[in-house]
Amino acid sequence: MDFFNYHNNQLFAEEVNIKTLADELGTPLYVYSRATLERHFKAYADPLADQPHLICYAVKANSNLAVLDVLARLGAGFDIVSVGELERVLAAGGEPDRIVFSGVGKQAHEIRRALEVGIKCFNVESIPELERIERIAEEMAVKAPISLRVNPDVDPKTHPYISTGLKANKFGIGFELAREVYRQAAAMQHLDVVGVDCHIGSQITQIDPFLDALDRLLVLVDQLAEDGIQLQHLDLGGGLGVRYSDETPPLPSAYVRALRERLADRSYELIFEPGRAIAANAGILVTRVEYLKAGQDKHFAIVDAAMNDLLRPALYDAWQEIIPVTPHPENHPSRVWDIVGPVCETGDFLGKDRQLALEPGDLLAVRSAGAYGFAMASNYNSRNRPAEVMVDGSQWHLVRQRESYEQQMAGEFTLPSQ
Ligand code: LLP
Repeated sequence: MDFFNYHNNQLFAEEVNIKTLADELGTPLYVYSRATLERHFKAYADPLADQPHLICYAVKANSNLAVLDVLARLGAGFDIVSVGELERVLAAGGEPDRIVFSGVGKQAHEIRRALEVGIKCFNVESIPELERIERIAEEMAVKAPISLRVNPDVDPKTHPYISTGLKANKFGIGFELAREVYRQAAAMQHLDVVGVDCHIGSQITQIDPFLDALDRLLVLVDQLAEDGIQLQHLDLGGGLGVRYSDETPPLPSAYVRALRERLADRSYELIFEPGRAIAANAGILVTRVEYLKAGQDKHFAIVDAAMNDLLRPALYDAWQEIIPVTPHPENHPSRVWDIVGPVCETGDFLGKDRQLALEPGDLLAVRSAGAYGFAMASNYNSRNRPAEVMVDGSQWHLVRQRESYEQQMAGEFTLPSQ
């Protein structure tokens, strides 16, 4: 559930009129709802209240400082995949000892910085990475807390680009190898083996793949106990899907309950790394219709947002709902439109075959744009990246200025004159 609703035929975010925001700040514009972010975070946290846990929001979904700030204030931890994300979490007031560091390509300087600030855990994805962390920890005379990200080889039944827990994927350490790699890790002087981790994919709409992955982790955990390796936490990754159209993903509470049942009385700290489930439906992208164009076979609504602002439709053929900010009266003629951006690519669309009543100048909202929206934005076609706003009840705060052309070109140089 979110807080983007119509009042008197106007779309609101909480108590703020979207049209007012768009008129004042321009479009394209990302609008986030603080109450929605908080609600989604609590949907994870509440069913875990009576047991040790840490909800490490996956920063990659939306790394705006204000989003991180809202979550840090609720006691969130953070799942990061780069030092850029680490610096953002710290700048937003996140606690270093609530950060887990995932990703297959951690560089030496990133590992050093993470050890310097004292993160909770590295989710290690390969033997060479383990050796690199051991060497750097030795140089710094510290012990590095580590988990192995195990690849449980289960099919999450999601889009192939965002499925990560199959043998064929680049992620994690193969299930059959994991026991031996744990032995190697336990023998390293500067590593502290604290947990196990898995993440099987994203936009997963069923519980079974998560349970299958957990079952496999528990087999491993028992084998490790036989080897004298006692773990403190289980990190079950992120990946819980959201409703974009008619999907029916389990609620976070049902998902957490099902996993807890499977764990019975095993007492581990549970870590989750949700990104999309917290941020996706907490944001919309507001855009204005520039032109209505009749093609031979299709009608195009050309809007001022494009694939550089919201890449998911172009990249994954993802479907996101597009709704009018101020709906026309019911008797206004409607037709089927492709909602497309100004970028010079056929793949530059936000939605296809949408039945809408439109006029030039209308405002549209692309829903479910809070996760993997701005975070994947680029300057393609030398377009400035959009502004971002956080709504909080009847107030709103500009949390990122619209990029300027000066900012876009900052750091670039022409060649010296001869
Ligand atoms: N943990 C790890 C290690 C991850 O790789 C990811 C996402 C997450 C947590 C968070 O997953 P979530 O709860 O958000 O599903 N750009 C794609 C999604 C890519 C997800 C990559 N990894 C999209 O727009 O659909």
